[in-house]
Amino acid sequence: MTSEASRRSSERIYQELKQHIQSSMKPGAPLPSSRSLVEQHQASPNTIQKVVSRLMQEGLVVSRAGRGVFVAEKPQITSSTADFGWQSVLLGASPALQQDFQSLYTPAPAGVIPLGSGYLDASLQPGALLAAAMQRASRRPLIWDRISPEGLEPLRNWFAQKLGVQAQNTLITSGAQTALSTVFSVLAHSEGLPVLVESPCHLGTLAILRSCGMKPIPVPADHAGMRPDLLEQLLQSTSARILTCQPTYQNPTGLCWPEQRRKDILALCKKHGVLIVEDGATQDLGLDGPPPPNLVKMAPEQVVHVYSLTKPVAAGLRIAAIAATGPVLQRLRTALVVDDLFVTGVMQEAALELVTSAQWSRHLKTVQGTLKERRDVLVGQVQVHLPNWKIQHVPTGGFYIWVKLPEDQDDAVFARLALQHGVQVSAGHAWFPAESEGPHLRLSYAGASLEQIRQGVTTLADLGSKK
Ligand SMILES: Cc1ncc(COP(=O)(O)O)c(C=O)c1O
Repeated sequence: MTSEASRRSSERIYQELKQHIQSSMKPGAPLPSSRSLVEQHQASPNTIQKVVSRLMQEGLVVSRAGRGVFVAEKPQITSSTADFGWQSVLLGASPALQQDFQSLYTPAPAGVIPLGSGYLDASLQPGALLAAAMQRASRRPLIWDRISPEGLEPLRNWFAQKLGVQAQNTLITSGAQTALSTVFSVLAHSEGLPVLVESPCHLGTLAILRSCGMKPIPVPADHAGMRPDLLEQLLQSTSARILTCQPTYQNPTGLCWPEQRRKDILALCKKHGVLIVEDGATQDLGLDGPPPPNLVKMAPEQVVHVYSLTKPVAAGLRIAAIAATGPVLQRLRTALVVDDLFVTGVMQEAALELVTSAQWSRHLKTVQGTLKERRDVLVGQVQVHLPNWKIQHVPTGGFYIWVKLPEDQDDAVFARLALQHGVQVSAGHAWFPAESEGPHLRLSYAGASLEQIRQGVTTLADLGSKK
């Protein structure tokens, strides 16, 4: 079937199903299974998937995990007619909109190919190991008691050894996002404080800086990471003395700074008294061998490092660590207690069981091997089917490729269109701290199988060629 014929068939099925739902189905009624829709409409499973995702996006149907798809309940009238003016008065001026960040962390609807995911899919998560670790952890005596706010000592030791720092300089947090939020809330001592960031920069970090009232200042990068010449200029022309970066498999570009670049940036920061916040979230995901040493290992007194287990394990294992020194460490310790008291002991015990188990290194190898295969297929498919999309850099680790679209494309419009056709991608404009450097997409190979990657790129190519 040509892509035009396939589009027409998909549109016809969509209209028929929509009419059927609106005229003869009750809220909460189950939609026929995908298989019976395929038979009923004589269409491919892919077409049916696209139709159902479109109905989901329009709020006509909802998916319930493991149970199927159901006609959505009617929206509650009270929420649209209630008068919330008093709340608006109470809240005052609105903070910066963080919609791009919120939508980035909303999982793809069922049936949508997740080329926007920042976490491993279920096939790569160590489900059986986690279940066993949780079971053992939950049987420990006094497991539900209070524990030290800094975290479990053996787990801090494990993180310290991994990062090459002292255990007393580590603190356990629930995930890297919490860790980064706490770090910047401690550093944000005045409104509008400038912070030097990579450009493009991890969207989650930009969201935190904005919500802390800080001002991100972009430092451009070349093929080897942040540019020392431009950083030096900025250190001379601005008062910024905090810098944040992800030197190992950056999100979204996949860049990994070589050792010499790390030394150059560290030397400049030392000379100008700059504190570095190093995000090490994806450091375990080297696909072509291990990365160069972390900045924190090279200069622990200059660097606050954040390392998380969510990326090599699963989004739900919300255990991370901060490594820091001096007064910054003391303030972080206080801030974490004020915010969270401590991270639940059973989760810390389970994480410890997992990372110290005999199977841990085998798990990492499996993840690295599969991601490498997925990266190669994604890169190859884009090069073959979308020759005018430019892959900026083939990553040696992490989850993402960063693609420049032709100048006449609008990345936000394209990402919305792709979602309507059953493929989730992340539009690039939101990742720039200042003006965007043209239309980009971030494509992820973390959450999609080889088959989904092939299907997804075929759909993107169909949409790209229609432009
Ligand atoms: C670079 C980077 N830092 C931090 C985070 C937050 O990770 P966590 O799930 O551990 O909070 C993410 C997640 O997408 C990320 O990509």
